[in-house]
Amino acid sequence: MNSFARSALTGLSVVSMLAAISVASAYKGGPKPAAVPFAKVDKIIQTRCVGCHHGAKPAAGVDLSSYDAIMKSKFKGKAVVVAKKPKDSVIVAAVTGHGVAKMPPGPPLSAADVKLVSDWIAGGAKK
Ligand code: HEC
Repeated sequence: MNSFARSALTGLSVVSMLAAISVASAYKGGPKPAAVPFAKVDKIIQTRCVGCHHGAKPAAGVDLSSYDAIMKSKFKGKAVVVAKKPKDSVIVAAVTGHGVAKMPPGPPLSAADVKLVSDWIAGGAKK
């Protein structure tokens, strides 16, 4: 093998190694996304949910009017938000149509908004 061919081969294997590394990190999900701040979720909830879920008699007994109210809220004994566990959170079931009733009634949240709610919970449901 002449030296040109050898260096071309070495170059190729470096490139394929880099490609393998980037594929591997993509499979692990890459760098962690920044935690979703509650403010973003609150904006959705204030716009789409609080109309019915607030006050002395919130719909289904679920008060979504503030961070503290959301974190305290239960539906049939199940927490509306279980920090770090979107799948156990009643609110995620409701907005994905897996709850007792699909929420909100009428036009659903966008996929992006559903993801924000779910990612906020996955990130620890911090204030
Ligand atoms: C127009 C009024 C109204 C709006 C707006 C509304 N809800 Fe509801 N919600 C209700 C009613 C009524 C129930 C009780 C449904 C039942 O028991 O069949 C309910 C039930 C729920 C429950 C209990 C569990 C379940 O799966 O039904 C959750 C959680 C909930 N809503 C979350 C939300 C969220 C989150 C939003 C906004 C994305 C929202 N709701 C918007 C009226 C509303």
